[in-house]
Amino acid sequence: TKRLTIRDIAALRRRGEAIAMLTAYDAVMAALVETAGVDMILIGDSLGNVVLGHETTLPVSLEDMIRHAAAVKRGSSRALLVCDMPFGSVTDPDSALANAVRVMKETGVEAVKVEGGLAMVPTIERLVGHGIAVMAHIGLTPQSVHQMGGYYMHGKDEVSAARLREEAQALEAAGAFAIVLECVTPALAAEITLSLTIPTIGIGSGKDCAGQVLVVNDLIGLNTSPPPSFARPRADVASVIRAAVGEYVAETKAERGPIPMPRRAE
Ligand code: KIV
Ligand code: NA
Repeated sequence: TKRLTIRDIAALRRRGEAIAMLTAYDAVMAALVETAGVDMILIGDSLGNVVLGHETTLPVSLEDMIRHAAAVKRGSSRALLVCDMPFGSVTDPDSALANAVRVMKETGVEAVKVEGGLAMVPTIERLVGHGIAVMAHIGLTPQSVHQMGGYYMHGKDEVSAARLREEAQALEAAGAFAIVLECVTPALAAEITLSLTIPTIGIGSGKDCAGQVLVVNDLIGLNTSPPPSFARPRADVASVIRAAVGEYVAETKAERGPIPMPRRAE
């Protein structure tokens, strides 16, 4: 099977076929979600929260992203791979380009994702100008959690909505091949989707985007705290793991009687 390209993604949008995207952080999960049919896999910096046990995405390093993106690449053969540029790796167009070049060379992904609006336009122009495919990401941008003062819906008032419309246009013009809309009010997300040629990829933004993305752990119920309200888990993998491990522990202890003690050296 051939790997999808950004032209295949554009063709899905033109045909009106919704784009299905999920995160993955390792080779096994990449193989599983790809076999089940996702078009794109995001190696998200949600890695920080989901896999590395951090409180936010801020501590995630470029090396963390590269290690996990390379693993996803090894585990997959069909889905288009997008690697998040982590906090601090796109502070100006020059260092962003150097860091994105490292991601491309060292992982083999097809694209990178950059959080942010108008401030990211020169950076995205620079990356695209150097032959790197870029997915943009606006609305709730978790790398800005402290500057935003928390996680909440965006586009609720007219000032915020106008800003998002402007950002979407500017990011498409800068050359992004797709835009994640995270926690944007559904009506505005639908409107932005219709105003763009490139696909919008929604998360917590209603059903009327050109595609959807979700943290895979939230989809399959593989977590130890409740997922965000929009996630709607389709499985309870955490329970499957607890039950299997519980049986294993019980059987291990039951099958062996008291284990003989080593003879003491007198
Ligand atoms: O890091 C991530 O998983 C993301 C998405 C959920 C859009 O950026
Ligand atoms: Na992310």
